[in-house]
Amino acid sequence: MKFTKRKTVLSLSGTRVVVYSDKADLFSDAVSELAKTLKENPKANIGLATGATFQDFYREVALQCRKGKLSLKKSSTFNLDEYVGIKPSDPESYYSYMNNQLYSKTDLKKENAHLPRSDAKNPKAEAQRYENLIKKSGGIDLQYLGIGNNGHIGFNEPGTPFDSKTHVVKLSEATIRQNSIERGYFVGRKMPRYAMTMGIGTILKARKIIVIATGSHKAEAIGRIFKKGKNKEVPASSLKGMKKVTFMLDRQSAQRL
Ligand code: GLP
Repeated sequence: MKFTKRKTVLSLSGTRVVVYSDKADLFSDAVSELAKTLKENPKANIGLATGATFQDFYREVALQCRKGKLSLKKSSTFNLDEYVGIKPSDPESYYSYMNNQLYSKTDLKKENAHLPRSDAKNPKAEAQRYENLIKKSGGIDLQYLGIGNNGHIGFNEPGTPFDSKTHVVKLSEATIRQNSIERGYFVGRKMPRYAMTMGIGTILKARKIIVIATGSHKAEAIGRIFKKGKNKEVPASSLKGMKKVTFMLDRQSAQRL
C-alpha cells in the first residue's frame, strides 16, 4: 500500500491501523489517548512498554506533565516485562529505563509504579505475584505495546500460547541479538537469558490497547501480523480483529502492508 496522506486510517483484518507520515503526530496522538483515559478516570491503570520506540512517547508524556496538561498523580502503571537476575538499580534494567524516562520526570507516585522485580529470589513466584497484583488492582485500562523484530509483544516469544499469564521466559536468540548487538544494550557484558513478562492472555484482558511501531526494521514484523491469520508464531497477531486495539505506525514500519 502507498501512503500519501499525513494520517491514514485503515481497517485491516477488522483491526484499526493508523499510518502517520510524521512521527511527531503519532506520538502526540498516542499521548492524547493517555490524557483521554486519565480524564475519564484519573486513577486508571496504565500498562507500559520499554524499548527504543517508547523513548519518544515518554519524552512527550514528560513534556505534557511539565506543561501541566497531564497528571499521573492518581494513576498506577504496570510495566509489561523485566529481565531476570539483575538488580533493579542496574542501568540496563527496565526499572532504570522507566526511572530515567518517566518516574523521575513526572508526578507519578513511586509506590504506584509497578514492574516485576528483576532480583526476585523466586522469579516464578514473582511472576505469579505480579499477575495477581494486576488482577487485584482492577486490571489494565490502557495498555501500550511495542513490537519485537520477531513479532513478540512484551517478552512473549513466538510459540507462546495466547491465553498465557505472567510468566518467566527464556529469551530467543533473535531477541538477545535485538536487545544487545542491534540496540546497543548490555555492551561488554552478557545479557540476561531470562525475563518475566505479562502473558499474551494478561495483555489481551486490557480494556484498550495501543501498539506502536516505527522504522523500516519493524516492517517485516508488521507485514507478518496482517499477512496470515492469528498464529502463535507471530505473538502480535493475537491482537487482530479486536475493536479495542489500535496500531499506530509510521510509513516506514507500514511499508509491507
Ligand atoms: C523489547 C521489549 C518489548 C519492546 C520490544 C521492541 O524486547 N521486551 O516490550 O516492545 O522489544 O523494542 P524496541 O522499541 O527497542 O524496538
